[in-house]
Amino acid sequence: MTTAPTTGTGRPQERPDPVPPVLELRDLTRHFGAAGRAVRAADGVTLTVGRGEVLGLVGESGSGKSTVGRCAVRLDEPTSGSVLINGTDVTRLSRRALRPLRRHFNLVFQDPSASLDPRMTVGRIVTEPLRLHGMLRSTAARERAVELLSQVGLRPEYADRHPHQLSGGQRQRVSIARALSAEPDLLVADEPTSALDVSVQASVLNLLADLQRDRGFGCLFITHDLAAVEYLADRIAVMYLGQIVEQAPVAELFAAPKHPYTQALLSAAPLPDPSAQRTRRRIVLTGELPSPLAPPPGCRFHTRCPLATDRCRTEVPRLRPLPGVGREVACHLVADDGTAPDAAAPRGAEEAGDPAEREGTAG
Ligand SMILES: Nc1ncnc2c1ncn2[C@@H]1O[C@H](COP(=O)(O)OP(=O)(O)O)[C@@H](O)[C@H]1O
Ligand SMILES: [Mg+2]
Repeated sequence: MTTAPTTGTGRPQERPDPVPPVLELRDLTRHFGAAGRAVRAADGVTLTVGRGEVLGLVGESGSGKSTVGRCAVRLDEPTSGSVLINGTDVTRLSRRALRPLRRHFNLVFQDPSASLDPRMTVGRIVTEPLRLHGMLRSTAARERAVELLSQVGLRPEYADRHPHQLSGGQRQRVSIARALSAEPDLLVADEPTSALDVSVQASVLNLLADLQRDRGFGCLFITHDLAAVEYLADRIAVMYLGQIVEQAPVAELFAAPKHPYTQALLSAAPLPDPSAQRTRRRIVLTGELPSPLAPPPGCRFHTRCPLATDRCRTEVPRLRPLPGVGREVACHLVADDGTAPDAAAPRGAEEAGDPAEREGTAG
């Protein structure tokens, strides 16, 4: 009698082999500029992307998403904290030591024009990672290029073209083909569709979803498009001013957002059902995102939170687990059993039709 996991044959495994996540960030911090007056772009970000899992990283512009993504693929050096790829700590590896590990991860940028070498042919661009990692025989280069292009929906003749001869959507297909050519375990996709025409965004997103399903790579999918994240991601991490404020599986987060910031973000996203769109209460956040040069004390969201209390203004809320698999929140107002207040109905203003009540809470 054993509780050990069984293999496909029903035979208990001798020793369960724990598979490390493809990406693990531990307390990742990235400050820009001199200590004391640094831009605190990322401040203690801890997250994992499991094998074959898509983690959506959302939050408004300036919240630190790209900084996290760049540190995750070692395009940037964290100020402190660590980055593990497939269980290996790559935070302090030299470029040389990192080189053989590079094939395990890659990045797709927001703007494909800026990330593709204009002098190279498309065929050369998509096979470059294979060349870099000694995975290509020169006689097979053309064949591989054509194959890679067909996987992203581009005909063979595109192999001989240059990036400037392509449309934005085609260029992004090329950067996706390049990023996936060495079959990485992890893809970081930073707003991969937001620089594209609205008319082609969906097709590039569909392509990414199809490739992810077929190949099963893990993905850190950075976006401010909640519909895209709902479609593509398994889990979501919500960032505010350099920190993660909530994490949850996609369905749970959309069904019952706990953090007032998450509630506000979701309330601002368009709903597919027009009648639901008309009746739902929108939470309008007042004020701008505060400067990451001087984040507010206590909860960083307190300056814009309709529910903030004195405790929120002084005490930093830690990201803590809630009941339910993979649910975490950093908010003093969420109870340990997961009960969360509704930011659309601040205390004392439960019903919009009761002016006396509302006046009672003013100021
Ligand atoms: N190289 C840099 N030098 C100084 N500040 C930076 C740098 N990169 C990003 N920042 C700042 O860090 C914050 C987070 O930026 P970013 O990670 O690009 O956010 P997001 O991708 O969520 O829009 C912003 O305030 C941005 O201005
Ligand atoms: Mg960004």
